[in-house]
Amino acid sequence: MKLHVFPLLVSVASASWSKNLNYRSPSEHHPSLGISIHRVVKRNDPASSYDPVKLNFTHGVASGDPYPNSVILWTRVAPENDNSNSSLSVTGYAPLFDHDNEKYVKVSKSPICVEYKVAQDKSLSQVVDSGTVFTSSDVDFTIKIEAKNLKAYTTYYYQFNVCGSSNKSPIGRTKTTPHADDDITAVSIAVYSCANYPFGFFNAYGNPVRKDSVDYVVFLGDYIYEYKNGYYGWGDSIGRIPQPDKEIFTLYDYRKRLATYRTDLDLVASHQAYPWIPTWDDHEVADNVYRDGSAELNNTEDSFLKDGGISVDQRKMNAVRAYFEWMPIRQVDMDDNLRIWRTFSIGKLVDLLMLDTRNYDRSITDLYWNTKYIGEIADDAGRSLMGSRQENWMYRTLSESAERGAIWRVIGSQILFSRANQSTLNNNQVNLDAWEGYGANKNRTLNHLYSNGINNNVFLAGDSHASWVSDLVWLDEEEYDPVTGAGSIGVEFAGTAISSPCPYGENITLARANNFSSILQSANSELQWSDLYYRGYFELHFTRDKVDANFFGIPNTRLYNGWEIPLANFTVRSGANRLQRPVAGGVVESGSLKFGRVVQDNVTLDTASGKWFKS
Ligand SMILES: *[C@@H]1O[C@H](CO)[C@@H](O)[C@H](O)[C@H]1NC(C)=O
Ligand SMILES: *[C@@H]1O[C@H](CO)[C@@H](O)[C@H](O)[C@H]1NC(C)=O
Ligand SMILES: *[C@@H]1O[C@H](CO)[C@@H](O)[C@H](O)[C@H]1NC(C)=O
Ligand SMILES: *[C@@H]1O[C@H](CO)[C@@H](O)[C@H](O)[C@H]1NC(C)=O
Ligand SMILES: *[C@@H]1O[C@H](CO)[C@@H](O)[C@H](O)[C@H]1NC(C)=O
Ligand SMILES: *[C@@H]1O[C@H](CO)[C@@H](O)[C@H](O)[C@H]1NC(C)=O
Ligand SMILES: *[C@@H]1O[C@H](CO)[C@@H](O)[C@H](O)[C@H]1NC(C)=O
Ligand SMILES: *[C@@H]1O[C@H](CO)[C@@H](O)[C@H](O)[C@H]1NC(C)=O
Ligand SMILES: *[C@@H]1O[C@H](CO)[C@@H](O)[C@H](O)[C@H]1NC(C)=O
Repeated sequence: MKLHVFPLLVSVASASWSKNLNYRSPSEHHPSLGISIHRVVKRNDPASSYDPVKLNFTHGVASGDPYPNSVILWTRVAPENDNSNSSLSVTGYAPLFDHDNEKYVKVSKSPICVEYKVAQDKSLSQVVDSGTVFTSSDVDFTIKIEAKNLKAYTTYYYQFNVCGSSNKSPIGRTKTTPHADDDITAVSIAVYSCANYPFGFFNAYGNPVRKDSVDYVVFLGDYIYEYKNGYYGWGDSIGRIPQPDKEIFTLYDYRKRLATYRTDLDLVASHQAYPWIPTWDDHEVADNVYRDGSAELNNTEDSFLKDGGISVDQRKMNAVRAYFEWMPIRQVDMDDNLRIWRTFSIGKLVDLLMLDTRNYDRSITDLYWNTKYIGEIADDAGRSLMGSRQENWMYRTLSESAERGAIWRVIGSQILFSRANQSTLNNNQVNLDAWEGYGANKNRTLNHLYSNGINNNVFLAGDSHASWVSDLVWLDEEEYDPVTGAGSIGVEFAGTAISSPCPYGENITLARANNFSSILQSANSELQWSDLYYRGYFELHFTRDKVDANFFGIPNTRLYNGWEIPLANFTVRSGANRLQRPVAGGVVESGSLKFGRVVQDNVTLDTASGKWFKS
């Protein structure tokens, strides 16, 4: 192994450790859960440094959780593409891959020193913030810093480089939010959920980059899936086998899985172009995860033994730790390591609430073997999707948002809020794993909105792999007219998956999917449009007077391409609290529209060239 003396050792002392937020994760007040910086520093051997030229920015750059004066910036710089399974061993030595000799060795290596700068121009000459920061195997060589001293609602460019070297990361673009009291006129977001690597390319992520059509990306969960390829997915046939090639449990497993997903070119492009505001759903940990377990992991010793000795808590901790290392997000409460629920004020225009209806404090859900029981208890008043702390925060935040006069309240929920009676299509009358399985929590939410006269509510959801657009109604309580929308208190835009398959068959035909959409649409009075066929995403364009929602379908996720079909467009007028009539202008491209027609134009936009072609 070649040893290189680090040229900037003097500055090592002054450069910041704690600036890399990942060393403090999940909680700086509980070092036993995070990384002991003290131990990493002590291990530091100046004689054993990496050759700066051999280090690699392996997964591009990312930004997220924009505030008016700051934003989170992310990169990974490593001696190899593989991930680390180090979480600082007791000896203080982290196992590392020795590239020259192609094997794992136990050595003490000095940390990697990285500089970053943030500028107002693409050529990075008008620098407004810069700094020096460390990373090491302990945090999988990731770097997450908070760029500060920024101006509100402004675009910035940023780059990392290995200290004292011209080895640089790609240049990223990001954007701060406006101040809460800024009277901005417009803001746009792209909304995503459910990216399954072995099921297809993440083309949906790339299209808003190619069109340059939004300000921010909102992600509602299922950024990765925990399964082994083949169990769910056809990765072999499209050259996308997620690593490690097994169901994931350990810290290394979750890091490696995130790293595999982050090789998708359109995902990398989205992270490089837009600040993300993500939350997780179940698959960032495991299927149908809740407070105390998941579909395939009970909180029992028997179950742990089946899973290689990893308990519910340990698995959740591994998943969450890797997630915070890899995602460009803040930890809003360093003493509450599972807290991801948080708020963003985007001027006077939008207050965005990002929920955690999964990991934080969710009462038991449908785990497939207990469906009947969950059906029986679904309406128990004690059941909560969020736990009382988060529930109370949500009600308080919605009230405060209305009081401060924010025009739109956008609630980023993982799971479908509106009822989806699927009785004629399957035996489960409703999806007990969605809000429907937590009737009291749902009613408390509706009661809060109706009784406090809180309006302009826009619920978002993912999770279901299909598109559902509804008026937001309290059935059996407030009279609702599906024709006019009278009686509703807002709208719900629930989006389809980036690549995860249709819930009614992974190779369903368009005709069959549209037939099913009609059936669902007639069984649910408030469901105005649904489409089951297309994978895709939607954009929301907010102004003071209205919000426009544009749904896009991706015609082919088995190929890497920039094609998309505009499926349906909706408008919500400020103060109307319902979809504008005629809903979707009376015409959609696919699915089933309650009071309108489906007309197949069969034209697709190639977002890369900006040209339309007949499909
Ligand atoms: C650097 O990372 C990129 C992206 O993962 C990879 O394609 C490339 O092979 C790596 N280069 C080296 C020298 O490891
Ligand atoms: C790190 O974890 C991987 C995957 O489990 C394993 O192949 C490798 O041997 C481990 N390395 C060390 C040094 O323990
Ligand atoms: C969890 O417990 C239930 C009820 O005993 C059982 O049916 C199921 O197979 C268990 N699952 C696992 C993964 O152990
Ligand atoms: C929710 O409210 C509706 C309408 O009042 C009522 O019919 C239903 O029983 C309530 N459900 C629960 C769980 O409270
Ligand atoms: C769906 O189609 C893919 C690709 O042709 C195939 O690999 C897969 O087995 C099919 N799935 C089913 C359930 O038929
Ligand atoms: C759906 O298909 C079934 C079987 O072909 C047919 O009987 C039914 O009328 C169709 N429903 C709608 C709403 O198109
Ligand atoms: C679902 O719809 C079917 C028929 O469309 C109806 O018979 C059933 O009562 C509904 N179930 C619920 C829970 O609303
Ligand atoms: C939706 O709006 C876009 C323009 O934003 C338009 O190109 C498209 O045809 C519309 N789609 C439908 C189904 O009305
Ligand atoms: C679009 O394609 C479908 C199925 O191939 C066909 O039935 C329909 O007539 C086409 N519509 C137009 C406008 O070309």
